[in-house]
Order: sequence, then C-alpha cells, then structure tokens
Amino acid sequence: MSGTIRVPGDKSISHRSLILSSLADGESEIRGILDAEDIRSTATVLRELGVQIPPFAQVIRIKGLGLRGLRQPRSALDCGNSGTTTRLMAGVVAAHPFSARFVGDASLSRRPMKRIAEPLTYMGAQFECEHGDGLPMTVHGVDLRSVDWDTGGSSAQVKSAILLAGLASAVEVRVTEKSLSRDHTERMLRAMGVDVENDGSQVCLRPTHRLHPFDIQVPADPSSAAFFVALASLATSGELTLTDVCLNPTRTGFFQALRRMGAKVDETREMSSGGEDIGSVRVGRAQLRGTRVTAEQVPAIIDELPLLACVAAGAGVELEIRGAAELRVKESDRISAVVQNLRAVGAEAEELPDGLRVSAGRRQLAGTIDPRGDHRIAMAFGILSAATGNRITVSDPRCVAVSYPGFWEDLRRVAA
Ligand code: S3P
Repeated sequence: MSGTIRVPGDKSISHRSLILSSLADGESEIRGILDAEDIRSTATVLRELGVQIPPFAQVIRIKGLGLRGLRQPRSALDCGNSGTTTRLMAGVVAAHPFSARFVGDASLSRRPMKRIAEPLTYMGAQFECEHGDGLPMTVHGVDLRSVDWDTGGSSAQVKSAILLAGLASAVEVRVTEKSLSRDHTERMLRAMGVDVENDGSQVCLRPTHRLHPFDIQVPADPSSAAFFVALASLATSGELTLTDVCLNPTRTGFFQALRRMGAKVDETREMSSGGEDIGSVRVGRAQLRGTRVTAEQVPAIIDELPLLACVAAGAGVELEIRGAAELRVKESDRISAVVQNLRAVGAEAEELPDGLRVSAGRRQLAGTIDPRGDHRIAMAFGILSAATGNRITVSDPRCVAVSYPGFWEDLRRVAA
C-alpha cells in the first residue's frame, strides 16, 4: 500500500462552524465542510430555527442572526443520529426565549441528556424528557445566569453546551473537567474574538455582546484519517500519507497509541487555521506490539478506541483499555459491540465494565459482523476486513454515512 489521501472535513469543527456562524453578526464563509448525515442534522436544526443554510458545497456562506437571534421553531428539531447536534444546540436554545422539542433516531433517543440538562437547568432553563433522560426532550429557554460547573468527567459536548449557553446569554461561565476534552469550541470562539481561556482543566468564557463573522477552512478529520493510518500500520508493505489533517492534540491520541505499539506514525504540523494546527501524517509499516490505554489517555482517543481494538486483533497483539465506560453510551454500546463482533470473527476479547481486553495471538479472522447501526464500528471492522488475510463482511455498511459517506470507495482505492 502506498500513496496519499485527504479524508473529508472534520465532523466536530463542521458542526461548530455552522452553529457559530449562525450566531455571528454578518456573513461567514466555510470551506470544506463535511457533507455527512450528522452535519446535515445540524443544518436542518438551524434552518428550523430561522437560519438560511445553503445546500452543502465546497464553499458555503452563512448570514448569522446574531446572539439570541434564532426564531421559535414550527416543528420538532430532528437531530437524526447526532449527539453533538443535540447537546450543542440544546445549549444554544436554552438561551433563547422560546421552547423547542428535540427528537432523534432510536440510537440517539437512548443517549443520556441529564449531563447537559443539569447545568443548563441550574442556569435557569427548563428541560422535560419524555422517557428517562433521553429524547424526545423539550427545552424551555430563558435569559440564563452565570454558572461555575464541574462536569466530573471529560465531555466536549457538555462543555460546549455550557459555553454556547453562556455565549448566547452574554454571561460568564466556567467549566471544570477531569481532563481536557477536545477544545474546538474554545479555539473557534477565540478566532472569532471571544475572551475564552482554557488552562487544561478549567475553561472560562467572559461575556460578549457580539460575535464577529469568520472565514474558516475545515481541516480533514483525524478520526476519519485514523482508519487509513490503522490500515497502513497493519499492511505488509508501503507507506501512506494523510494530508491536511487536524492535528489538535486533544484529537491525536490514536496516533500516540499506535506509536506506543511500535508503529511508524509521523505527524508534521504545517499550518494553522481557525486556531487549529493542520498538517500531514505519514505511516510506514512496522512490527506492532501490545499496549494499554488508561483513563487519562481516553479523552484524546475516545472515538478511535473501537479501531484500536481492531488493530490489536489484526496484529495479534494484546490490548487493554480501562477508564472508558463512556463508550457504553455512544452511538451503540461500543464495548459490547466491539467485543461481540471481534469474537464473531474469531478473535479473543473480553468486556470489562469500563473497557475491554484483546488477547494476543495471530489468527485468520473471518465472519460477518453487525455494526449495530454505528458508523465507527462498521469502519473499524472495514479496516480489519481489508487487512491481509481476513475475510470479514460488514452487514449494514451504509451506516457510515453519518460521518464518512465515501468511506468504502476510499478504502477500495487505498487498499488497491
Ligand atoms: C464530540 C465530542 C465527543 C465525541 C463525539 C464528538 C464533539 O463526545 O465522542 O464524537 O464534537 O464535541 P463527548 O463529548 O460525549 O465525549
């Protein structure tokens, strides 16, 4: 395997660029937005709230309605499969003087919303969940008050919901986390002129009354790049270069974990745009060995843990992941989905309450896996299927459309 690939735009940055440009005073330009179902969900929700979002193209322009300029929606806000859409937009809506009902697909409806409802309720909004703490959920917005909130964990969605609520209400907010979650919201806000500080465990946003429009170039998604980095490190020969990748250190835990496993993965920072470091990742073949992922390392690799488990199984090396109970409340229960599917193709793996273990031993892996409608499970096993000697079929391959609609095509091209 050899060559160069540029994967599609970053999902987290694409969501935020739509949301923040909608809240700005004036016209923003977004280049290279990710055209995938999750981002379309954010666009649908913003359109329902009165923002004119054009059809996705390489360059789109958005005329913001200003802070607290959104309009009362006429129908429910359909967030599809997207947790980021729901949680970030709940923060924005909580600061507006109207009520909105959030709905989503079966997977999203099972995901916990108490984590955002609690701080936003403390700030003055009201939340009503129709079943447990999931969707459908109605948010009654008000003029919010300031908050100093300790999330007790590490979640960029919770942190961003509080920051966006404070931003739209023009009040100071502080959020403390156990360890730093992805900080794209803070970086983008800073690039738009907002006073927001992040010392690694606490973020403080100071009130602002006007958000300046901005131009942003969305870099390639490191979580999508990770699939090809994984494939190249499992390949028997060749070298692959991923270009234009977002190299924000809160997102590059997978590359670090692969290096601990002995892989040759070089990151080169080449430029910075919108407050984000961007560059290339070069991967060459190497003999892999086992590793462990600990709780402190989890935030920067959270979305790539299923893939890491597949890499370990493909290389026949041991892996232990701990402190990652969050995986149970993602698009699927990713601990159970990974372990069950690894076993279905003949690997040895076991579930732990807060992680998983893959045993060493090189085997030919074969069989059909059920991704449970979860894009990242489908793609992780897609990589394992493309690695030498494995015969794995992914049922429901189309679920990748949530974050990477062209994945199978790109995989065929790179593997060829
Ligand atoms: C995201 C934050 C993470 C991540 C998700 C995207 C974001 O979720 O898993 O894919 O864009 O803020 P948590 O905040 O729940 O950790």
